Amino acid sequence: IERTYIMIKPDGVQRGLIGKIIQRFEERGFKLIALKLTQSTEAHLEDHYADLKGKPFFPGLIKYMASGPVVAMVWEGLDAVKTGRVMLGATNPLQSPVGSIRGDFCLAVGRNICHGSDSVDSAEKEIKLWFPEGVTQYTSALESWILE
Ligand code: GTP
Ligand code: MG
Repeated sequence: IERTYIMIKPDGVQRGLIGKIIQRFEERGFKLIALKLTQSTEAHLEDHYADLKGKPFFPGLIKYMASGPVVAMVWEGLDAVKTGRVMLGATNPLQSPVGSIRGDFCLAVGRNICHGSDSVDSAEKEIKLWFPEGVTQYTSALESWILE
């Protein structure tokens, strides 16, 4: 069982897509173990996107991500990291298949409404960065109907 860090970006929040994005992860069978709406600082976002420092789009990315509140979440389930990325689609929404979140709800690479961890290592790092208080563990009544 894996955990992944999923975040609805400021444009996703402003556009009223919080419910739809959460619904997709719930319906797929993932378990929500942490959730908050938070206004992030540029310094915190520079930590989150540290591996992109130096890219030409980095300053714009930080401004975009700090432009309003985000919804920070941790989802747990089978192959959560890779499957989460498949559910989001490609980085560029124009290359995201219809049926993925980006492929259904957005157009521009710099306004791609959601984030998902790209590896188990970055998931662990991002969960610590966004939820230093920890996650909430509980037993889901549906678990034995979703996992074998
Ligand atoms: P995240 O889930 O947000 O981490 O996206 P990703 O893993 O699909 O892509 P990556 O980590 O490489 O880039 C992080 C974010 O930077 C992307 O989601 C885009 O919003 C933005 N970004 C990446 N490449 C470009 C680019 O070429 N131009 C612009 N304007 N933004 C970019
Ligand atoms: Mg990334």
